[in-house]
Amino acid sequence: MSITKICCIGAGYVGGPTMAVIAQKCPHIQVTVVDLNEERIAAWNDENVDNIPIYEPGLSDIVAEARGRNLFFSTNVEKAIDEAQIIFISVNTPTKTYGKGKGMAADLKYIELCARQIARIAKDNKIVVEKSTLPVRTAEAIKSILDNTGNGVQFQILSNPEFLAEGTAVTDLLNPDRILIGGDTSVEGQKAIQSLVDVYANWVPADKILTTNVWSSELSKLTANAFLAQRISSVNAMSELCEKTGADVNEVARAIGMDSRIGPKFLKASVGFGGSCFQKDILNLVYIAKSYGLNEVADYWEQVIIMNDHQKRRFSNKMVQTLYNTVADKKIAFLGWAFKKDTNDTRESAAIYIADDLINEQAQIAVYDPKVSSRKVLADLDYLETRTSEKNSANVTSFSSPYEACASAHAIAVLTEWDEFIAYDWQKIYDGMQKPAFVFDGRNILNRVALESIGFIYQGIGS
Ligand code: NAD
Ligand code: UGA
Repeated sequence: MSITKICCIGAGYVGGPTMAVIAQKCPHIQVTVVDLNEERIAAWNDENVDNIPIYEPGLSDIVAEARGRNLFFSTNVEKAIDEAQIIFISVNTPTKTYGKGKGMAADLKYIELCARQIARIAKDNKIVVEKSTLPVRTAEAIKSILDNTGNGVQFQILSNPEFLAEGTAVTDLLNPDRILIGGDTSVEGQKAIQSLVDVYANWVPADKILTTNVWSSELSKLTANAFLAQRISSVNAMSELCEKTGADVNEVARAIGMDSRIGPKFLKASVGFGGSCFQKDILNLVYIAKSYGLNEVADYWEQVIIMNDHQKRRFSNKMVQTLYNTVADKKIAFLGWAFKKDTNDTRESAAIYIADDLINEQAQIAVYDPKVSSRKVLADLDYLETRTSEKNSANVTSFSSPYEACASAHAIAVLTEWDEFIAYDWQKIYDGMQKPAFVFDGRNILNRVALESIGFIYQGIGS
C-alpha cells in the first residue's frame, strides 16, 4: 500500500519530534499529530516556532520547514484517525499508581483508550503502530479490542519502538542506529511491515531497518533501556568503591571503555539517571518477569533501580555531611534541574530528589537551569507530595542568572551537564559565595584542579 496519510496520537517528546522528521523527509505524506491536550497543540502551532512545547536542538527548524506544508498539529483526534492509513500510538505509558501492579506495571489506560477510539472511528483498513514503549504482548490486547469492537475493518498491529534520547532527538531520528519493526508473520502482516519500511526508507539505509515478530520488537525496547540503565548503575556502583579506595571512576571508566567489547559510551558516573523511561521501563520489566514467576530475573533487574536510588540519596547525604552536618537555613545553589543537558524535560530528574532531601534538612535551594521555568521546578516538588506547596515555595527560588543563584551560597550542586556551566567565570562565582565555598559536581564536568586553585572545596562523583 502506498502511504500518503499518517496520524500520530500523542504530541509529546516522542510523537512531536518523530513525526516532524517523518514529515520533513517524506513531503509526499501528510502527517497529522493529535493530542487531547489543547495547550500543547496550541504551543506546537505557535506562530513563533521558538515557542513549540519541546526544546530539542534542531527541532524548531524542522517544524518551521514542514508545518503547514505536510505537518499538522490538531486536537481533532477523530478526523485524523478517520483519514489516516497508518496510525502511530505515541501516548504516555507511565508506571501505575493504583491497583494491581501499583508502582511497577505500566499503566495502559491511555493505550486502551486509543485502541477503542480507533476501533470506533475506522471505516477502512488501518495499520496501527505501537510507538509507545509497552509490555511484551500488548499488541495482543490491542488486537483483541480492535477486532471485537470495530466496524469489521481489518487492522494490522505493528510494533515500532522509538530509541531516540532526549537532547539528541533530532540527530537520533535523522541517523538512527536502527529502525525496529515487528509485525505478524501472515501475508497481511508482512505487507503492513513493508508499508512502514517504505516510509523509513525515504531516509534510513535498508541495512538499518530491522524486521522481527511483534513480541521480539516489544521486548527489545525494554531490554535496550534495561541494558543502558544497567551500565550507569554499574559505573555508579564502582564510583562509591572508588571514593573509598582512592581510585578515580573517570580513569576506571576510560580504562574499561577502551576494551572494544565494553565500549566507551554510557559509562559516565553521575548523581543518578533520571528521565521518564529508564525507571518506568525497568519496573515494568521486573513486573513482567514476576508475573511469569521468574523471581531471579526480576531481582536481577530491580537491582539497577535500587542502585540508582542509593546513588541519589548518597549524594545528598554527602552534601549534608560535608557541610558540617547541617544545611539548615544555608543557601544551596543548584546548577541544572533538567534530567540531562539540551532538554527542558525534568521527569524523574535527580535534582528533584536531591532538593527534596535538602529541603527536609531545611536548606534554602536556589535553582538555575537554562531551559526549566520556576513554575516547573515547584510543580516537580509539589508532585512528590512530601510537604505543602507553600513550604516548597518558601524553600525554593529559581533565578534567571547562574551568578545570582550562586550569590552568597554556601555550596553549589551541579545536577545537569549543561555545557555552559563549564564556561562560567568561576572566580566571580567564588568571590560572591560564603566561605569555605563548596562545589558538589554530580556530573563530573568541571575542572577540579582549576576550581581548587581558585579556593573551592570540590567533590566529584567517584574520586
Ligand atoms: P509525553 O507525556 O511527552 O506525551 C504523551 C502525549 O500523549 C501527551 O501529550 C498526552 O496528552 C497524549 N495523550 C495521552 N492519551 C491520549 C489520547 N487518548 N488521545 C490523544 N492524546 C493522548 O510522553 P513521551 O515522552 O512522548 O512518551 C510517549 C511514549 O514513548 C512512552 O511510552 C515512552 O515510554 C516512549 N518513549 C519515550 C521516549 C522519550 O525520550 N521521552 C523515548 C522513547 C520512547
Ligand atoms: C533513554 C535511551 O537512551 C533512549 O535510547 C530511549 O529511547 C529513551 O531512554 C526512552 O525510552 O525514553 P533518555 O532517557 O532520553 O534516553 O536519555 P539518556 O541519554 O539515556 O540519559 C538518561 C539518564 O542517564 C540521564 O539522566 C543521563 O544524565 C544519565 N546518564 C546517561 C548517566 O548518568 N551516565 C551516562 O553515561 C549516560
